[in-house]
Amino acid sequence: MSTPPKGKLPLPELAELKRRREKIVMVTAYDAPGARFAEDAGVDVILVGDTAAMVVLGHPGTTPVTMDEMIFLTRTVSRAARHPIVVGDMPFGSFQVSDEKALENAVRFVKEAGADAVKLEGAGPMVSRVRTIVEAGIPVMGHVGLTPQSATILGGFKTQGKTAEAARRLVDDALALEEAGAFSVVLEAVPAPVAAEVTSRLSVPTIGIGAGRDCDGQVLVYHDLLGLTEGHLPRFVKRYANLSREIRDALEAYADEVRSGTFPEDEHTYEMPGNELERFLSSSTPSTTSTSAQT
Ligand code: KIV
Repeated sequence: MSTPPKGKLPLPELAELKRRREKIVMVTAYDAPGARFAEDAGVDVILVGDTAAMVVLGHPGTTPVTMDEMIFLTRTVSRAARHPIVVGDMPFGSFQVSDEKALENAVRFVKEAGADAVKLEGAGPMVSRVRTIVEAGIPVMGHVGLTPQSATILGGFKTQGKTAEAARRLVDDALALEEAGAFSVVLEAVPAPVAAEVTSRLSVPTIGIGAGRDCDGQVLVYHDLLGLTEGHLPRFVKRYANLSREIRDALEAYADEVRSGTFPEDEHTYEMPGNELERFLSSSTPSTTSTSAQT
């Protein structure tokens, strides 16, 4: 899509898309160029994910990223994204402690970072966080299944909801989040039939990542889908480009050309009028001469 529609996508439009069985496109982004590319591609929702901890900040997991870091990154995205809904991902420690703390931090995402909504992981005690934030007027996206912030408790980065009991709990959790006012729920790494069941039971849209094709929308991490992430990738990632190869080739070519003197060429350098150059050269005294003249 070359010309995205003007103005912010109204949040209720996501539910309309579900009703019309039109897929919702969500992608993560962490800076202004990423947001611009996503907007120009016609993406509906940009998530400033706490995956920033890994793909941008170089941590091995998502838990170390701070509120201040997430606010900084979200601000750069919301500055550039005029049409897509910008969702700020609440980092570990910013909402687990209490409803009050969760609301305080959700407000920061809106006030300081220009986010349109926030996302938080989990159900159970987190359902009351969702309710509190929504009651204060801030839209919340839920997230169940594999919730990386609690990966240790879940036994690692593993598919969730694989037994009948676990699948049932997952459906109940998603329903509880909807009942608390979540406008959408992310389903991460759950078997496709379970995601399909959740999607049919919820009136708000589900956004899948490793949850099959029956979800109302899909999300992938920007660096994963563009091939910027190197090393192991989860099974659910599809690479649409191999940018890390392109970047490495370009940087190596640049380094070679600087060292060989091939870069810069004439087309990369500035001229000055010939008479000015002559006047400049005749008026300038080499510094070595002036130094030796003084001694
Ligand atoms: O932080 C993130 O990028 C996410 C997506 C993977 C859904 O939560």
